Amino acid sequence: MASRNTISFTSVDAQPSGVLVLIAGEGGAVTNGLPQDLKSLVERAASVAKFKGKALSSFELLAPAGSALDRVLVVGGKADTGSGEEHWLKLGGSIAAKTKGADVVTIAAGTLAPAEAASIAAGILLRGYEFDRYKTKKKANGDDEEARDAAREFRLSVADADAAKDAFAGIQPVVDGVVLARDLVNEPANVLGPVEYVAEIEKLSQVGVEVEILDEAAMRDLGMHALLGVAQGSPRPPRLAIMRWNGGGDEAPVAFVGKGVVFDTGGISIKPAAGMEDMKGDMGGSAAVVGLMRALAGRKAKANVVGIVGLVENAVDGMAQRPGDIVKAMSGTTIEVLNTDAEGRLVLADALWYCQDRFKPKFMVNLATLTGAIIVALGNHHAGLFSNNDELSERLTQAGKATGEKVWRMPLGPEYDKQIEGKFADIKNIGNGRAAGSITAAQFLQRFVNDVPWAHLDIAGTAMGSPANEYNQSWASGYGVRLLNRLVEDHYETK
Ligand code: BES
Ligand code: MN
Ligand code: ZN
Repeated sequence: MASRNTISFTSVDAQPSGVLVLIAGEGGAVTNGLPQDLKSLVERAASVAKFKGKALSSFELLAPAGSALDRVLVVGGKADTGSGEEHWLKLGGSIAAKTKGADVVTIAAGTLAPAEAASIAAGILLRGYEFDRYKTKKKANGDDEEARDAAREFRLSVADADAAKDAFAGIQPVVDGVVLARDLVNEPANVLGPVEYVAEIEKLSQVGVEVEILDEAAMRDLGMHALLGVAQGSPRPPRLAIMRWNGGGDEAPVAFVGKGVVFDTGGISIKPAAGMEDMKGDMGGSAAVVGLMRALAGRKAKANVVGIVGLVENAVDGMAQRPGDIVKAMSGTTIEVLNTDAEGRLVLADALWYCQDRFKPKFMVNLATLTGAIIVALGNHHAGLFSNNDELSERLTQAGKATGEKVWRMPLGPEYDKQIEGKFADIKNIGNGRAAGSITAAQFLQRFVNDVPWAHLDIAGTAMGSPANEYNQSWASGYGVRLLNRLVEDHYETK
C-alpha cells in the first residue's frame, strides 16, 4: 500500500523546519550554507561522534534552543553504496527510517543533481510501503496507531526546484508500479484469483494502457492446452491478459511476459506443507509486468510495449492434470507432464508463443518465479538470466547494476536441451533428476521461442522473501519493475 508520506521540492532559500537532514560528503564534511552557530555545533558533534561520512552512517543532535528546527540528522551520502540510482534510493530509504516519528523533514539536497534528489524521494516512498490492509489493529512493528497513521512530509531543498520536480515526475510512476507489484504479490490467493487479478489489470486502462482479456473459451480456440492443463484442477478459471502501451509511433513493440500462478499447490505432485503459503507469490513475474506497464504509462514512455500475463491457479481437484498426461501446446509441440509442479513453464509456453506469433516483437523478456533451484544457485540477490542474445543480456545486466535489481547470466546449451526430450511426446516438463533444474526449465521455455531475441528471468529468489533493505521492508519486493523500466528507458525509447 502506498505510503502516507508526501514529497515536495523547495529552493535552498526556504526556511527549513522539523528535522533537518544534512548529507555529508567524503571525509564527513557537511558542505552547505548553514548559519555559523549551527555549523560549529554540527562540526563539533561530528568530531565527538567520530563521524567519517561513511555511506549511510549517521549521527544526530538536538537543535539549539530558539531554533526553528527540532533536530539535525547528518547522514553519510556521497561515497557510493552501489551503482547509480540504487545508491540514492538507499539514502532516501535510510533517511525515512532514521527520521521516523518526525512530521516534517527537510533534506538539504542543494548540491545534488535533480535525478539524485528525485531518487532520494523515491527511496522515501518505497521505504514507507507497508502491506497492512488486513491489520485490524494498526500496531504492527511496535508502532503506535497514531504514528502509523500520521502523514509525514518530506521537503527536499534543491538548487533547481523545477528541474527536481520534472525528474520526480518521471520516477513517481515507477514507484507506483513497484507498489502495485508488491501489493499484487502480497495479496493472498483467496482474494486474488485469476478473475480478480484481471479486474486489477483492467484498472490500468485509466492511465492509458489498452487491456484485452482472453477467457478459457478463447484460449481453447487458440489451442493453449499447456496453460489450460495447469488450470483444470481449479474451479477458478484461467485468464490471459494482454496489455499494450503505445507511446512509440509505428515501431515494432518490445514484449514482457509473466508467470501468474496465483497459487501453486504443486497439483497432484503436491508440495510439502511447510512454506507452501509462500506460493501465493507465484505470480511475481506477472506482477512485475503489470507494475512495469503502470510505470511506463504513468511516465508516458516513448515506446511501444506489450505485456502478457498467464493467470492460473495450480490446484488439485478431481479434474486436475495427472503425471503422465500429454498436452499439446499452441505451438503444436506435445508435452508429457511428468511433474504437475513444473507448471510455470507450461503456462509460459503458450503465453510466449502467443506473444511472438501475434506481435512480432523486437524482443521478449519473460519473468517467472520458476524454480526453487535458482534460489539454491543464486540466493536472493540476483535473478537468473537465460538468453539467446548477448546484446539483450548485456543491457539487462547493466540495467540490473544501475537499479540494484541484479541479474546473473546462466548457461543454455544442447546438452541441457537433451534432458527434456520426451519418451512418449516431443518433450517432457522436467529434466533428469535435480541436476541443473533452473537450466532445464529455461531450455523448456526456449522450445517455444523462435528467432526473436529472448531472455528469461528466474525471479523465484528475488520477487519475494528477499531480505529487507533500506528501500524495501516488504515480503514482496516488486522486483523487476525498476529493472525493466530502466531497460526500456535506456535503449528502446524514441527521443
Ligand atoms: N513456483 C515453483 C518455484 C518456486 C519455488 C518459486 C520456491 C518460489 C519459491 C515452481 O512452480 C516449482 O514448483 N518448481 C519446481 C520444479 C520441479 C518440479 C522440476 C521446483 O522448483 O521444485
Ligand atoms: Mn510448481
Ligand atoms: Zn510455480
